[in-house]
Amino acid sequence: MDGTTESGARLEPALSNEYYTSAEIYRREHPRIFYRSWLFLAHDSDLAKTGDYVAGHVADQAVFAIRGRDGTVRAFYNVCRHRGHRIVEGRGQAERVLICPYHAWSYEHTGALRSARGAERGADRELLGLRSIRIERIAGLWFVNLDPDAQPLAETAPGLEEQLLGESPQLPEYRRLCEGTFEVACNWKVFVENGLECYHCAPAHPGFCEIVDLNAYDIASYGTFTRHWGEMKAGGRYSSWKLFPLTNLRSSSDVPALVTFQLRPLAVDRFVQTLTLYGPAARASDHARLYRDWIDTSFVREDMALASSVQIGLSSRGLPGGLLMVSDGYESEHLLVDFQTWVRKALDG
Ligand code: FES
Ligand SMILES: [Fe+2]
Repeated sequence: MDGTTESGARLEPALSNEYYTSAEIYRREHPRIFYRSWLFLAHDSDLAKTGDYVAGHVADQAVFAIRGRDGTVRAFYNVCRHRGHRIVEGRGQAERVLICPYHAWSYEHTGALRSARGAERGADRELLGLRSIRIERIAGLWFVNLDPDAQPLAETAPGLEEQLLGESPQLPEYRRLCEGTFEVACNWKVFVENGLECYHCAPAHPGFCEIVDLNAYDIASYGTFTRHWGEMKAGGRYSSWKLFPLTNLRSSSDVPALVTFQLRPLAVDRFVQTLTLYGPAARASDHARLYRDWIDTSFVREDMALASSVQIGLSSRGLPGGLLMVSDGYESEHLLVDFQTWVRKALDG
């Protein structure tokens, strides 16, 4: 087989199976991919007031962001400099200081150590502050990066902010309305790749095809991020962006909303994703329906089942290596070619 079909579509080799099954490659992805990339952490509404904080993860690294008394949002590794307990969990507000729950060392919003309980004069407050990480904002969304030398987010993903605000001009004013967390039994890349192609939409997502017009659907790559978009049959538009490697943002304009997907790899064959729905507070009941229809019961669950099956297949002796269908139009898997080139370059380049 030369790989080319009559229609001009061709088959290209996918990343070899070991990229999805090797613990050694998974270990290498941490310094080379996860610790160098921009990841979504919070929306403006999560950090609106002084002391508001949001905890999250960059792969195995716990982090958090907090708005200080000076109005500045800062981000840190979420680990106490005494013995390593987490400083904060989830979301909340620490109006004046951050206090570690273990032995009550306290920290300023700036990350500086305020007091090491019982040794107020012995501790070096300058040296024992929380370790900071990079945090930047586009379109009302805050992203973190563990690499102090990372290229700024706006330069890493030029045009993403304009696209997000073009689809959802009110995005910075949205509120967090609901969220859910799902553990999935596959390598994180299997799931990202599933979201990069709509070749599977017709056979695997009957519900999605009922609401989105696939005759008016398109996909595009912008280097470090991709976009899918299509007209919804009932009016309005559906858009989905993937910022490599672990952030997925999905908007709809019939019920104005943005769903953020944060992927956190747990092992080579397991990750957890947190889905959060943001929208105008006045339409919370519409959003409860949207969340149920779109997120909790339909194609997100279908995608998790598809990806889990693929993960098992990637260890099968019957699959020497996967293939990518590259063609014209929305059913092409060429965005996977781009993503896999990006992965190879990051890991091996
Ligand atoms: S670990 Fe935080 S005060 Fe001891
Ligand atoms: Fe899907």
